[in-house]
Amino acid sequence: MSISIVDGIKQRLHRDIVADPVLHGAILNLYLNGEAYPHRVDDYFPVGYVSEAELAARMSRHAQEEDKHIALYSKAISRLEQSVVELPLSCIFNAVIRNHTEASFAIDPADDADTRSLKVAHFMAHAHCLEKRVARSLEYHLEACAHSPCDYPAKAVGAVLADEYEHVRYTGEAVNALLPQRVANQVWAQHRRAEWRGNLDFSASQLRRVLLEHGQGWSASRRGLYRASAWALAGLLKVSP
Ligand SMILES: [Fe+2]
Ligand SMILES: [Fe+2]
Repeated sequence: MSISIVDGIKQRLHRDIVADPVLHGAILNLYLNGEAYPHRVDDYFPVGYVSEAELAARMSRHAQEEDKHIALYSKAISRLEQSVVELPLSCIFNAVIRNHTEASFAIDPADDADTRSLKVAHFMAHAHCLEKRVARSLEYHLEACAHSPCDYPAKAVGAVLADEYEHVRYTGEAVNALLPQRVANQVWAQHRRAEWRGNLDFSASQLRRVLLEHGQGWSASRRGLYRASAWALAGLLKVSP
């Protein structure tokens, strides 16, 4: 499928999402659960193991901004008269990417300085690839929110997106500053592959879930389009390295 066809399908999907407050609330819950994921694990934001004070401070601010995003999504969900729900890990993009990630970034206090730097860099590369994809998804969603009967989600998503661009920028720079270029290239290759596979996996399963739980009101051709898209995503995952 060409980029413009994929673009058109994603644009159509986000417009269909915002047209239905129940589905819109469900999708905002997907974003919210990603923001809350750091609180469900103990190896995100390993600030205590970062020796550069400036980077440690930026990471702490990053964690606080993700918590601010939880509050923004919660308010948007309540404005749609929907409820915030805690989703299973299979519905959280971060966790799905990690199912495809070989590298661990859990730091052991006994790790030497080089190992700590490598693991911090693995976390930053994971965060960078993840946030880049989320930012792209939010761009589609923000465009669709202009057609929503409720104006608060657009305000919330716009504020989140501005922070995510900055997270993408500094995490990318941090990986290249923490590691020699040859090692950084290997780390980037691992996380780009994991995110690519994770995105196919997550998108196929969530599209199927949306069809099953929210697609009854859509036309047969619309359901057929999304069903075919989910099938193509799952097929691509099977043949991806
Ligand atoms: Fe965020
Ligand atoms: Fe972020």
